[in-house]
Amino acid sequence: MTKSPTELVFLGATAFCEIAEIVRDINRIEPTYSIRAILDDNPDLHGTMVEGTPVVGPLEECRRFPDARIVMGIGSYKTRMVRHAIIERLGLPEDRYATLIHPTAKIYPTVEIGAGCIVQCGAVIAADTVLEPFAHVLFNSFVGVGNRICRGALLTSLVSTAGGVTVGHYAHLGTTSSVAENRTIAAGAQVAMGSVVIRDVPLGAFVLGNPARRLRSEKVDESIVRMWENRDA
Ligand SMILES: CC(C)(COP(=O)(O)OP(=O)(O)OC[C@H]1O[C@@H](n2cnc3c(N)ncnc32)[C@H](O)[C@@H]1OP(=O)(O)O)[C@@H](O)C(=O)NCCC(=O)NCCS
Repeated sequence: MTKSPTELVFLGATAFCEIAEIVRDINRIEPTYSIRAILDDNPDLHGTMVEGTPVVGPLEECRRFPDARIVMGIGSYKTRMVRHAIIERLGLPEDRYATLIHPTAKIYPTVEIGAGCIVQCGAVIAADTVLEPFAHVLFNSFVGVGNRICRGALLTSLVSTAGGVTVGHYAHLGTTSSVAENRTIAAGAQVAMGSVVIRDVPLGAFVLGNPARRLRSEKVDESIVRMWENRDA
């Protein structure tokens, strides 16, 4: 008997096209998913279509699709911490979220990947690395051996991390940034594009340049701070 495809509902219209392409490429190999709807809090988008998929309403509408898996597509440097608030607000069990891995990504067998993760084409996740739930690793990024990419962290395109790096909860690494071995980027931090991180980055810091230096710091939500402080508990 042929298995019916798993329905997907996307959160966020902005990144839909990029992430839907993972789904299409998976389906080309083996029909696995059908894309049902997009949800977005911007009322101007409701009733519109993105590449043939309807934007049906705000994020809460996910309750109308109890059998669908949810794709957490929201994620930019501006919304990096808002992502946490959205996940909390929706209160869905983690196993409702789909993890999408592009078929051209190379994931070593000892890697652990949680729910709600996105791994884009050409990404390489080296041995013994952990991607906690809702982590994103985008186009052609390399995540080194034994990294810990904490919940909700965003590694954009062409990012490169050496071995033993920790990227904190809901931190954002801009495109082409790189991180030296065994460095820790704390929760809620922002590494600007092209930066070279050779020192640990504190909680909520915005660092840039080569070598990366702190320009300013941003307030990190209490619940994200708690996750960070209790990360080894
Ligand atoms: C972080 C970022 C948004 C810039 O932030 P910002 O708050 O707008 O920073 P500003 O433009 O106000 O710049 C502040 C200062 O930092 C400098 N600066 C900004 N980005 C920089 C960078 N990546 N490297 C070095 N210096 C940078 C600016 O020249 C400016 O210096 P000045 O005060 O001497 O003029 C941008 O660098 C970045 O990383 N964007 C993310 C892009 C990305 O990765 N997208 C995902 C693609 S897949």
